[in-house]
Amino acid sequence: MPIKPDLPKPPEFGAPLAPTHESTETLKLLALRRSTPVLMLGEPGPSAADLDAMLRLAMRVPDHRKLEPWRVLIIEGSARERLGDYFAAARSLREPDATPAQLEEDRKLPLRAPTILAVISSPTHDPKKTPIWEQQLSAGALCQTLMIAANAMGWAACWITETPAYDSHVHAALGLKPGDQIAGFIYLGTAKEQPVERQRPDVSAKATRWTG
Ligand SMILES: Cc1cc2nc3c(=O)[nH]c(=O)nc-3n(C[C@H](O)[C@H](O)[C@H](O)COP(=O)(O)O)c2cc1C
Repeated sequence: MPIKPDLPKPPEFGAPLAPTHESTETLKLLALRRSTPVLMLGEPGPSAADLDAMLRLAMRVPDHRKLEPWRVLIIEGSARERLGDYFAAARSLREPDATPAQLEEDRKLPLRAPTILAVISSPTHDPKKTPIWEQQLSAGALCQTLMIAANAMGWAACWITETPAYDSHVHAALGLKPGDQIAGFIYLGTAKEQPVERQRPDVSAKATRWTG
């Protein structure tokens, strides 16, 4: 069952903050965290208050020079149908030979979960100061923080892109500007099935000690 987020008030600018937050619950979440495959998501989705809390938490991500190089579109209800129409229209322009069944498949993509957060990476063109790459990384951090906050509140979540995220017609429909990219569609809802553990990296092979 989702829990009602009981968050601390946003700290005042300049307020002293604890440098650490020892939390067994957080460690447990990170140790056992699993995305829920989008086909396992269903109703209900998070309330407006939950989404507000999730977004507030996620927008505290590291952000070099405080450029806030991202924004989020909340897509729910019938807006998902309109997004599906854009997905299908984009496919027919991309692939004039697409079959009606393929277009219908694309039309249904956004209906797989009650709520979608489209995270837009929107770097400012000031590459001498904060490289674009760093601004894009901040958008990725926002996606993952949304995933973690959603799970901690009791919502199942999945970060996917799929072909539509890279289609210029979909970009136009979502109001992306030149240089913007879709960092992810975060699908949110309630798990209809239990996800299972996937293969995980061999940490000792991926993280080695550099000694100079
Ligand atoms: C930027 C990004 C885009 C992704 N896009 C897709 C996608 O389009 N389809 C998909 O099946 N998984 C996609 N994934 C992978 C899933 O989000 C997820 O990480 C994966 O299923 C592993 O599950 P886990 O989060 O439990 O480790 C994407 C991940 C990232 C970081």
